Amino acid sequence: MSKLTVISGKSSENLAKELSKKIKANFVKSEIRVFPDGESKITLVGKISKKKSIVVQSIYPPVDTNLVQALSLITKAKENSSEVVVVIPYMGYARQDREFLSGEIVTMKVLGKLFKGAGASKIIVVDIHSVMGLNYFKIKTKNITAIPDLVRYFKKLRLKNPLVVSPDQGGKERARQFAKEFNLDYIALEKIRSRKTGTVKIKTKNLKQVKNRDLILVDDMISTGGSIIKATQFLKKQKCKKIYVACTHALLMNDAEKKIKKAGVTNIISTNTIPGKTSKVDISKAIAKAIM
Ligand code: R5P
Repeated sequence: MSKLTVISGKSSENLAKELSKKIKANFVKSEIRVFPDGESKITLVGKISKKKSIVVQSIYPPVDTNLVQALSLITKAKENSSEVVVVIPYMGYARQDREFLSGEIVTMKVLGKLFKGAGASKIIVVDIHSVMGLNYFKIKTKNITAIPDLVRYFKKLRLKNPLVVSPDQGGKERARQFAKEFNLDYIALEKIRSRKTGTVKIKTKNLKQVKNRDLILVDDMISTGGSIIKATQFLKKQKCKKIYVACTHALLMNDAEKKIKKAGVTNIISTNTIPGKTSKVDISKAIAKAIM
């Protein structure tokens, strides 16, 4: 038996399988039975190493269910292995990293306590929305990026004279990294979001650089699609050519994919941190590198 075990949560089964092959680990899968009241009963199938376990579970919707399952897997892993590394490819709650409005609870602080309490020695995340949230985890943390893997995919598309665009100033550094890896130029739009209603507006006015060019809109995540739709509507008015979206985490809530395509996006490419129709880029190699 290998000295490493990958314990796969239900939300990341394929990714965990790929990872276990790459790091030559024993694969342990979870069988889940959901009771009528919504509780999950998890049964692990396979043997867990005494030395090191790697728990893999993304926290996408249903977020709280997947979170409790992650904590349960960590607890069980710690009962067997002396070291438990936790891979959360998509970290739900990462946007709740500070008190934006008075009285708001900083849920990342809660998660930091829960993961440590359950027995995690180290946590690995992929393109977390804000690394600030990781400061609440009083264990080792690592944020890895899917940008090189996304760029490799986009290079194969052979776009003509593309320009990298961030839909907001917060994503400027991400767009810069993407553009650098691709050897392209980049720009960042100005977006404002109402803290109360969540609605977004693009503040940028005229933008001559985008005319007649294919664009790659780069973001860490798409939830409702509001940010991408507003950016697309604005960029189309500036007479750009095709718009592609590159993002790490495609949640695509409430028909977001349909709405984004309707706004004028040619294609959305995301990674398998969240499995789905758009998740064409596998990030198991980058995760394996961070573990070994
Ligand atoms: C915001 O700062 C993030 O980087 C994303 O742009 C945002 O969270 C996406 O959410 P939505 O798709 O709902 O606009």
